[in-house]
Amino acid sequence: MNQEQKTLLTGIKPTGTPHVGNFLGAIKPAIKMVHDYEKSFLFIADYHALNTVQDGARLHDLSLSIAATWLACGLDPSKTVLYRQSAVPEVFELETILNAITPKGWMNKAHAYKAALDVNEAAGRDRDDGVSMGLYTYPILMAADILLYSADIVPVGKDQQQHVEIARDIAQRFNHTFNSESLVLPGAFIQEEVESVPGVDGRKMSKSYDNVIPLFATNDEWKKVINRIPTDSSSVEEPKDLSNCVIFDIFKSLAPVDTTEALKARLEAGGIGWGEVKAQLLEVLESEFGQYRDRYNEFMANPAEIERILAEGAAQAKAVARQKLDEVRTVIGA
Ligand code: TRP
Repeated sequence: MNQEQKTLLTGIKPTGTPHVGNFLGAIKPAIKMVHDYEKSFLFIADYHALNTVQDGARLHDLSLSIAATWLACGLDPSKTVLYRQSAVPEVFELETILNAITPKGWMNKAHAYKAALDVNEAAGRDRDDGVSMGLYTYPILMAADILLYSADIVPVGKDQQQHVEIARDIAQRFNHTFNSESLVLPGAFIQEEVESVPGVDGRKMSKSYDNVIPLFATNDEWKKVINRIPTDSSSVEEPKDLSNCVIFDIFKSLAPVDTTEALKARLEAGGIGWGEVKAQLLEVLESEFGQYRDRYNEFMANPAEIERILAEGAAQAKAVARQKLDEVRTVIGA
C-alpha cells in the first residue's frame, strides 16, 4: 500500500488555546501533511480533556475553540473529517473491549501515570493521590481512538509516542488473541520541533513556563507580551550583540528570511533601538498570524457554523466507526 492509500488520524485535547509555537510546530505541518493521505481524521479529544477540565461550559468552549483554531488555520473539512470524540460513542464501546485484553502492567508503565506517581512521591502524598481511572486508562481510550478508524499514521508530539506504541501493541494483542486481522497496526509520525520558537524569557515556549506568545491575540495583547522580552541596556547607536539575544531569536523564528536578514544587518551596524525591534516584531506577528486570528474570531462569533461542520464530520466518522465496531463485535462473539 502506498502512502496515498493510507489513513492519517490525530486528536487534540481541548485544554487551552494555542501559541505561535504550536502553530509552527504542529498545526501548520499537520494541515500540510493531510494532503499526502487518502483519508484523514482530526478530532477533538474532549473525553481525554475531561480528566482535567471538569466544568461543562468550559469544556464546551474549549472544544469549539480547538475546532475554530484548525479551521481558521486552513484545515479543509471537505478533505479531513473533523469531529468531537464524544460525538462518536462507538469509541467507548471499543475501549471497553480493549480493556479486556490490555494487561494492567502496560498502564503502570505509561509515562503520564508514572509522572503523576513521581510527583506524589516527591510531595510525600499517597502514590495514587489525584489519579483518576481516566488518567490511568488514558492510553486505552487513545488506542480505541486510533484503531476504530484503522489509522496507519498518527502525527503526534514526542510526548505521545509511547501512547501510539501502546495502541500498536494493543492492536497486535487483539489480533493475536482473536486470530483476526481486524485492527490495523498504527505508527507514530513524530513531529520534531524543527521550528521551535523560544518563549519570551528565552526558554522553550511552553504554557508551563508562562512565556508563550498566543496565536490569537489582539495587537494590544501581543504588544504586552512583546514588552516582557528582556533586552540589554545598549544605546540606540551601539551595534547589538546577537549571540544570546532573545528578541532576535524570536524574530528569526517567526519572520520571513529576508526580513530577518535586513533586521540583522541593521542591528549589527548599530543605530536601531530595541523599541523599534519590538515594533517590528509586532508587525511580523500581524502579517504572519493576523489573517488566522481574524478568521478564528469570525468562527468563534458563529458557533452554529462550527457545530454544523462538526456534525457533518461526526456523521462521516460514525459511518467508519460503526463498520469497524460491528466487525470487532463479530470477532469477539458479541
Ligand atoms: N493524547 C493526545 C494529546 O494529549 C490527544 C489524543 C487523544 C490523540 N487521542 C488521540 C492523539 C489519538 C492522537 C491520536 O496530545
